[in-house]
Amino acid sequence: VDPLNVADYERLAEQKLEPGPLAYFAGGADDEWTLRENVAAFRRLLLRPRVLVDVGSVSTATTVLGTDVSMPILVGPLAFQRLAHPDGETATARAAAAAGTIMGLSTIASAGPAEVAAAAPGAPRWFQLYCFRDAGVTQALVDQAVDNGYRAIALTVDAPVPANRERDLRTMFALPPEMRVPSIDAVVGSGPRPSPAEVFSLITPSITWRDLQELADRSPVPVIVKGVMTAEDALLACEHGAAAVVVSNHGGRQLDGVAATIDLLPEVVDTVGGRCEVLLDGGVRRGTDVAKALALGARAVLIGRAFLWGLAADGERGVSRVLELLRRELTTTLALLGCSSPVDVTAAHVARAPR
Ligand SMILES: Cc1cc2nc3c(=O)[nH]c(=O)nc-3n(C[C@H](O)[C@H](O)[C@H](O)COP(=O)(O)O)c2cc1C
Repeated sequence: VDPLNVADYERLAEQKLEPGPLAYFAGGADDEWTLRENVAAFRRLLLRPRVLVDVGSVSTATTVLGTDVSMPILVGPLAFQRLAHPDGETATARAAAAAGTIMGLSTIASAGPAEVAAAAPGAPRWFQLYCFRDAGVTQALVDQAVDNGYRAIALTVDAPVPANRERDLRTMFALPPEMRVPSIDAVVGSGPRPSPAEVFSLITPSITWRDLQELADRSPVPVIVKGVMTAEDALLACEHGAAAVVVSNHGGRQLDGVAATIDLLPEVVDTVGGRCEVLLDGGVRRGTDVAKALALGARAVLIGRAFLWGLAADGERGVSRVLELLRRELTTTLALLGCSSPVDVTAAHVARAPR
């Protein structure tokens, strides 16, 4: 039978991928406690459905930063997608466009902003930014993204230094020499190829809130801060020009011991209080997870590994299928909750499971 859910795609991806890429994609930092917790915390939340509501017509459509999307499920920025499938980011871009949602393109993608834009012209996209120590390369990337119609810059702030990812050490994971990473090529020129961990040494660990303010002041498109984990920083992000924050712990790949993102979401939403949009990523594997994030105040979620397993298993078709499965799950969940639309989901639709 065809894969029926994200977990089925994960198993297919595990069969397809070589040990190095699989470890890189699946792994997290240190003991991988946060990695597991991102998923587990969703399971501790209970849904509270309301019945005898007319759900004859349910729509998952919503808007994120003013952009219409067919569902509150966006495709997050993940590096090096050609490690998963030869079509890499261009396949992901076509699938996201066909699904009517936004794709985030990583700074360290295996296809540049222009190539990805050409793969699905006109579709809504964001560019995820890591600031290289080489400010010229950083600026050129941002310019290329803006010139190619990317609608927002998502500055990732949870990875100033590389984390300890022991799976990668065990497999001695290295980027295959034939796989190009345009941004890194621009930084190192004809020099030796950095390992994935060494890539982070090209990225400056010294950016601060002032740099965010400068970026926001200069940027012709909204700036999103990705990787906010506290109420304090969410507030600072709003005060320094961010149009949205993504509550994210980088999928458990950076600081191990951070709470699950779904558990961090309420304090951020409370503190931000509508000053900017709040998104979430980390551990989203089911439509019910999306509904729980909406209930706790997220405008939308981003998925990471969920679509990556589809890409590894079946290229563009796999990503399309994962997006379609999640959309279907969310549609059913909304109806069973007594909600006709994402904006109808409220805090009253979730409760904490008794310990
Ligand atoms: C293999 C992999 C590569 C990633 N690369 C990036 C990246 O280049 N930039 C970034 O901001 N986040 C990156 N992330 C983090 C994702 O954007 C997202 O925060 C995370 O995957 C969400 O958790 P999930 O995989 O449980 O959905 C990466 C995540 C994974 C799994």
